[in-house]
Amino acid sequence: MKMKAIVFENFGPPDVLQLKEVEKPVPKDNEVLVKVYAVHVNYGDILTRNFRKISPRKFYMSFLMWFFAKIFLGFRKPKIKILGSEFAGEIESVGKDVERFKEGDQVFGYKGMNMGAYAEYLCMPEKGTVALKPTNMTFEEACTVSGNSLTARNILSKVNIESGQKVLINGASGGIGSIALQLAKNSGAEVTGVCGTPRLEMVKALGADKVIDYTKVDFTTKGETYNLIFDVLGKSSFSRSKKVLNKNGIYLLANFKSRQLLQMLRTSIIGSKKVKCVLSFEEDIDAIKELVEAGKIKSVIDRSFPMEQAAEAHDYVEKGLKKGYVVITFNNNDKN
Ligand SMILES: NC(=O)c1ccc[n+]([C@@H]2O[C@H](COP(=O)([O-])OP(=O)(O)OC[C@H]3O[C@@H](n4cnc5c(N)ncnc54)[C@H](OP(=O)(O)O)[C@@H]3O)[C@@H](O)[C@H]2O)c1
Repeated sequence: MKMKAIVFENFGPPDVLQLKEVEKPVPKDNEVLVKVYAVHVNYGDILTRNFRKISPRKFYMSFLMWFFAKIFLGFRKPKIKILGSEFAGEIESVGKDVERFKEGDQVFGYKGMNMGAYAEYLCMPEKGTVALKPTNMTFEEACTVSGNSLTARNILSKVNIESGQKVLINGASGGIGSIALQLAKNSGAEVTGVCGTPRLEMVKALGADKVIDYTKVDFTTKGETYNLIFDVLGKSSFSRSKKVLNKNGIYLLANFKSRQLLQMLRTSIIGSKKVKCVLSFEEDIDAIKELVEAGKIKSVIDRSFPMEQAAEAHDYVEKGLKKGYVVITFNNNDKN
């Protein structure tokens, strides 16, 4: 049996993404077959599609992480040929040992670095990162909050945000930052979101108390101080940020190189202001469903593109035009 998928045979610009017929996957005994309705175009998809051009310098993590990523993704040609990690859809069939799901269940999930969600169908182990879709979200919305929410929640769980504290999110309009902003607000913090000009309104709408446009203002020069600075892309520096950190303040990073790891080591021994570099591993997606259904995580969809326009979707994101999440839809679904 065949299905349609967005395949890329070479690293490169958006038009390397081609709609092709490939083998439809068959679920193993412990797997579910998901009919995909929506996939989020996230940071990892854009990065992976053009990974040949990503030098260790351009990569936000350490050289070693870049090297492992190269081995995993391919040096000259992509090893993973179908992008997409955050998806939502409906269970079409289940393997004979599956107990948690049944045919027709609406689900959302995260395939992580293995990707493969830009396709009409995908398989997931029933114990993998897949859960029933939040009932208060469409498929389009649900796919945008699966992996991003896990990452934001896991990283923020390493710091204790207390009510009334001041938190700054550098990168508040992005996949991880927009969720981190909402989680920090849920903890009762006063949150400042830093992002580019076109996305200021969206960040305000997500609940930021204050917004800063990084193209116009350097947050380290505004005179305001914070208990926590979460820099998603690591675009600021600890040396500049520490002057706007309160005593016992934390400078939190989702992206880090050896330099920041050394800063983390040094500040763990001396000084009241700490650097924390955190990798996200935990995959408790049922907890994300609960947070969404409790109204604590929202999604702002900017645009959705049908699978035939996957290249346009990438182009739109890469040009910095998005004002919210961008998704690709599959299976001509009218349920989104
Ligand atoms: N630690 C972990 O376990 C882990 C897990 C997954 C991902 N990550 C890392 O997280 C990163 C991706 O995050 P994401 O998905 O949120 O990316 P994203 O959706 O592309 O968002 C990037 C954010 O950074 C902002 N930004 C861009 N340039 C900036 C600047 N000069 N100053 C301040 N903000 C700037 C963007 O603002 P505008 O769009 O408004 O311009 C946007 O808010 C990757 O680097 C990845 O390696 C880490």
